[in-house]
Amino acid sequence: MCSRPLDPNSLPDPIQSRLRGYSSDGRNLRTESSSAVYLYTHPLKSGLILKTRDVRLRPQEPDLLAETVALTWLQDKLPVPEYRCFHVEGETQYLLMTQLEGVTGIHPEATKDPARLVEKFAQGLREVHALAVGSCPMDWRMSRFFPWADGLINGGVFDDRIPAGGTRDRLREELDAIRAALPEEEDPVFTHGDYCLPNVMFQDGKLTGYIDLGYAGVGDRYMDFVSASWTIQRNLGEEWIAPFFNAYGLEHPDQEKMKTWQSVFEFVFR
Ligand SMILES: Nc1ncnc2c1ncn2[C@@H]1O[C@H](COP(=O)(O)OP(=O)(O)OP(=O)(O)O)[C@@H](O)[C@H]1O
Ligand SMILES: [Mg+2]
Repeated sequence: MCSRPLDPNSLPDPIQSRLRGYSSDGRNLRTESSSAVYLYTHPLKSGLILKTRDVRLRPQEPDLLAETVALTWLQDKLPVPEYRCFHVEGETQYLLMTQLEGVTGIHPEATKDPARLVEKFAQGLREVHALAVGSCPMDWRMSRFFPWADGLINGGVFDDRIPAGGTRDRLREELDAIRAALPEEEDPVFTHGDYCLPNVMFQDGKLTGYIDLGYAGVGDRYMDFVSASWTIQRNLGEEWIAPFFNAYGLEHPDQEKMKTWQSVFEFVFR
């Protein structure tokens, strides 16, 4: 599948027709996921990004249709890529969008001034969490999240974790225990869903946009805190986590809640 998007002539018609005159160097820009991401450039027009995903691989990874819905809803609300085309052919989803200016938050251009980067990264998250969620069609509140994760268990996605002789009940119990540890009351905000440095763009010390929005939607802000803390630790160093929360305006995040959301993440994505 990975070689198909390289040659525009072998792409499905709706995608191909939008890529006329464009070419790609064939570099897959993906970071962690099993999707493939290519930049297409044109001598006169701005760049386009083509993201493809084989729906049979890792069902716990974000769906490109969900990303399309998120991009469309966010269009006039946050700096996100402009949606161009979504198409499904066989087992492959295709999403074409505009290229955002700047570099991601793990590029040396961005990380050379970690204090400023962390400040902008935190302010960016505040901006995301401040969106009004009234009309948002993407829902990651607990009432959707846990049935979705249950569906993954029932679909056999995590069967390789079941010890010999065990059943899926073991996984269900593990997930139930995590849910029970979360407060009943939710404080839903708009969440990015994968708020890490490779998913935020920067230019000249400013945040220029948000990408990789397949898990965006109404949910718990601690989901984004877990991703943000993880990426800061991994890409900048643990000492930048406290300045991040300071710049966000929350000096003392609830460590219990962090731990529980961390276990939600580990359950679904490990
Ligand atoms: N619209 C865009 N404009 C500029 N660069 C982009 C855009 N979309 C993707 N990229 C580049 O491609 C990389 C991968 O894209 P994206 O984050 O959407 O998918 P992914 O990394 O495969 O998903 P995951 O974060 O789950 O691993 C980004 O980190 C970024 O470098
Ligand atoms: Mg990404």
